[in-house]
This record gives sequence, structure tokens and C-alpha cells, in this order.
Amino acid sequence: MITVTDLKKTYEGKVPTPALKGISFEIKDGEFVAVMGRSGSGKSTLLHQLGLLDRPTSGKIILNNSDVLALSDQKRTIFRLKELGYVFQEYALISEFDAWENVYLPSLALKGTPDKKRAQELLELVGLADRLDHYPNELSGGEQQRVAIARALINSPKVLFADEPTANLDSASSQTVLKLFLKLNQEFKQTIVMVTHEPEDKKYVHRVLWLSDGLLEKEEKTGKKY
Ligand SMILES: Nc1ncnc2c1ncn2[C@@H]1O[C@H](COP(=O)(O)OP(=O)(O)OP(=O)(O)O)[C@@H](O)[C@H]1O
Ligand SMILES: [Mg+2]
Repeated sequence: MITVTDLKKTYEGKVPTPALKGISFEIKDGEFVAVMGRSGSGKSTLLHQLGLLDRPTSGKIILNNSDVLALSDQKRTIFRLKELGYVFQEYALISEFDAWENVYLPSLALKGTPDKKRAQELLELVGLADRLDHYPNELSGGEQQRVAIARALINSPKVLFADEPTANLDSASSQTVLKLFLKLNQEFKQTIVMVTHEPEDKKYVHRVLWLSDGLLEKEEKTGKKY
């Protein structure tokens, strides 16, 4: 599903910062993979490159058989909308829109018509059937993150990326979100790549990619089957 070859990212600036120094790995269809490592090791940078939110300095990314960095900007944007879902640590919902609107917006952007029914079904799936007309400031952090997950799923992405999705949540809400990811992976075979700081999250995933100072230090199989 994902093949990354010698991926490098240097942030240009007064002093260039090499954040990824040549990373290669593969992720299979249906895998649930965690990305771990110290603060500053390059986890978010890696996810940004994979999620097509940024462009690497060099290297190759094959997503679902597409050489995504070779696509034109417009084609890459469409690819991102259609094939990738992204969940941010800080939810990133649009405050002027209610939960339902936030979820169906990416389907409107992709197809020109909003998929309101699927948005409703997804909000039911994440346990928020009774919160459709709530605005983000009328939802708890855990509820906002579940809206953000429903939004990430609206266009049936091949891969779901999540960057520390539970970092702002209390332990009960974190469990709810992680169990939701587990369900998406086990029941719907959703491929998921999740950055996390929490060692105990290892119990949910098939494999851990450990980053250290911009390099892939090791790949750890957890023994879970998929
Ligand atoms: N926009 C940027 N411009 C310049 N340097 C950056 C930028 N974003 C990140 N960096 C640097 O790149 C390195 C990797 O950052 P990154 O955000 O990927 O780390 P991380 O592993 O996600 O850390 P954390 O666990 O704290 O979220 C860090 O040294 C950081 O200072
Ligand atoms: Mg980060």
C-alpha cells in the first residue's frame, strides 16, 4: 500500500534543518502501524510527507501503486482527497460548521455534491449520532476528535494517517479513539499509520516504526496478526 524509498526532508531556513535523512520502508494493505520515537525525531515530518501535506526534498513515495510525487499539484490534491485521510492532534475542525457539515465537506470538495448520508452513518459509527448539529465548541475534545476521524473517512480513504490523535485527550477519551481505530482496522481492514508517544498503544498495532534523529532506527513487529 505504501512504499517509501530513501525519503529525505530538509527544512530550508537560515540554518537548514535535516528532519528526515533517508528513510525506506513498506506498509501493507490492512496494516495498523505506529510511528514512535523521541520528540524531534521526525515523526510528524514523515507523516506530512506521506499524507501529501508537504513535499520531501528527495526520495520516492508510492501510495496505492501511484508515484505520488510525480503527479501534478492538481492531481496530487485530488489523490489526497480521494485516497488519504488525515487526523491531527488538535482536531482541526472548522468552527463555523457543525459536526455533520465538517464531516461531509471533503465529499463536497471531491465530488461537487455532499455525501450527507454517509456523513451521518460515519457520525453514528463514531458514536455521535446525537451530536450532528453541534458546533466544535459545543463538543468535548474526545467528541471533536471523533468528528475529525469521521471526516477523515468520508471519501473512503485507502490510508488513514493520524498524528498523536490522543495527545490532547484524557485517558477515557483516548481509549475510545484507539478502540475506534482498532475497529476500523479489524472490521473494515482500514490501513492506518499513527504517530504516538504512548508505549501502551503498541498493543493495538501490528508493527512499530521507530524513528531516531531523522532515520528509521528499527522496525518492531508486535506479533499481532492482520
Ligand atoms: N517547519 C519547520 N521548519 C524548520 N524545522 C522544522 C519544521 N518542522 C519541524 N522542524 C524540525 O524538524 C525536526 C523534526 O520535527 P518533527 O515535528 O517531525 O518531530 P516529531 O518527531 O514529530 O516531534 P514531536 O514528538 O515533538 O511532535 C525537529 O528538529 C524540528 O525542529
Ligand atoms: Mg510531531
